[in-house]
Amino acid sequence: MLPIQNVAGRRSRSLAGRWHVIVDPYRSGAQFLGFPNARGFHRDLSPRDDARIEYDFARSPTLAVPGDWNSQEPRLLLYEGTLWYQRSFDAHPAAGRRWFLHFGAANYEARVFVNGHEVGSHVGGFTPFDLEVTAALRDGRNSLVVCVDATRRRDGVPALDTDWWNYGGLTRDVRLVEVPESFLCDYRIGLEGIEVTVDGPAPAKTVRITVGGHEITLATDTRGGARAPLPFAPERWSPGRPRLYDVTLACNGEVVHDRIGFRSIETRGCEILLNGEPVFLRGISIHEEAPLRGGRAHGEDDARLLLGWAQELGCNFVRLSHYPHDEPMARVADELGLLVWEEIPVYWEIDWESPVALECATGQLRELILRDRNRASVVFWSLANETLPKPARLEFLRSLAGTARALDPTRLLTTALLTLPSSEGRMRIEDPLGGIVDVLAVNEYFGWYYGEPEGVVWESAFDKPLVMSELGADALAGFRGGSDERYTEEFQARFYERQIAMLETIPFLRGLSPWILQDFRSPRRNLPGIQDHYNRKGLLSERGQRKLAFDVLRAFYARLAGAQRGGGGSAPPAAPG
Ligand code: GCU
Repeated sequence: MLPIQNVAGRRSRSLAGRWHVIVDPYRSGAQFLGFPNARGFHRDLSPRDDARIEYDFARSPTLAVPGDWNSQEPRLLLYEGTLWYQRSFDAHPAAGRRWFLHFGAANYEARVFVNGHEVGSHVGGFTPFDLEVTAALRDGRNSLVVCVDATRRRDGVPALDTDWWNYGGLTRDVRLVEVPESFLCDYRIGLEGIEVTVDGPAPAKTVRITVGGHEITLATDTRGGARAPLPFAPERWSPGRPRLYDVTLACNGEVVHDRIGFRSIETRGCEILLNGEPVFLRGISIHEEAPLRGGRAHGEDDARLLLGWAQELGCNFVRLSHYPHDEPMARVADELGLLVWEEIPVYWEIDWESPVALECATGQLRELILRDRNRASVVFWSLANETLPKPARLEFLRSLAGTARALDPTRLLTTALLTLPSSEGRMRIEDPLGGIVDVLAVNEYFGWYYGEPEGVVWESAFDKPLVMSELGADALAGFRGGSDERYTEEFQARFYERQIAMLETIPFLRGLSPWILQDFRSPRRNLPGIQDHYNRKGLLSERGQRKLAFDVLRAFYARLAGAQRGGGGSAPPAAPG
């Protein structure tokens, strides 16, 4: 079944709160799964039911949901195994109604049980899934048990190695959704028209839609589908004018509310055209790390704080890396007027030959696109980050590109390439993947991991725009010193000045998203007194302290914005041609 579009805009109840948990490194709770009358944790029993039972959720500790488990308890900071969640909830099943459990995300694999029955499972830590529970529900109190396994896997997506913390658990909201037996489960509204899908035993339904005061009625066919052109020419959404329209979709007694903007995005040669006009992307990369409190960010408040900081920097663009962030991020970006790059965690080395990995990556891409394809702010689907060129990788990513284009031909495809300088200091972009994507993107670290930015000549084998998707240097907030001393704020600020001078020489550069808005946790960063499990390339510390480089980039963006307002086009000011 299609994921349910816009759960928050429907009749649904959040199951957020304190859930009982059992930490189960040996997966003993799952031992007898599948055996009738097994006493596994999924049955939610206790010694009061059977003296041989050796667990009792009611007397077990609790954790907050939504929330990763690692940042909630010091004993779980480095835990990457299986953990069981339990809570109960009330429900009153009725004829003609259906119930689903909606998970914003669960990292990495989740198995879900209602009243001891397995209602479904999901693999992939950053995308939503909906499980129908109608048949498993009973009137009154219901038991909900979720087994989450955050173990990293060779054929996983991501796989074994990442430069971010493997936050495990029910990291985003869990909602109980009630809908009519046949209901509007998906819709797509954009400049290219309206498309609706009804799911249920009687999918031929009338769907009444109002958008911008215009009303349109669609009749779905026996397969539940219908489409029609937009009944009016909407005002365009853009960062300078993020116009959103209130939308209602009524079907079979249910009314869904949404807010949608309309814009076009395309490329022409080296130009990125937003609503037909060249645009330069003044961006920043963001990890989904909760500002100020740490751990995996989630919900609207975190989104507003992170995107608010990006706006203070002078951004019109954000790269949400390296995995799909929570749904409110793109919705808040719609409202604030920020263009968005979304990405699936095909990161570094993936088991390119593994059908399991391909199926998982394809599933995550599909769930992301179906979730966010009504968001005007989202302009890029990124398929991967820093993957080394090899044939199996190219085939894997070509397959993902096909999936993305089939699901959504209206947005730009990209991936963050890893290109290293030639011996003469030339950067030639010729990765065959450049032939598959619409926009080139490169991560480069001249002046930090290698070389110097001065004198680097950038070339491309493709007549396509370039976004510099990463550049950055570590600095510990408050560590002051000479601009040649690594990890000082002065070094990082000087790094940005030198980088900006290089970027301004690249004629086909049409944007950048430096690495990164704020310091974030990583198990790979172990320099004592400096990193202490944090990647320190943020322009802000994990506590929101501004580093000197924040103002260097902000000044550059103010200059670019001024130039663009002054009709200076979209190329970097100093770039030839
Ligand atoms: C890489 C990678 C990031 C990483 C960064 C760094 O380019 O894409 O995930 O955090 O470099 O080394 O800081």
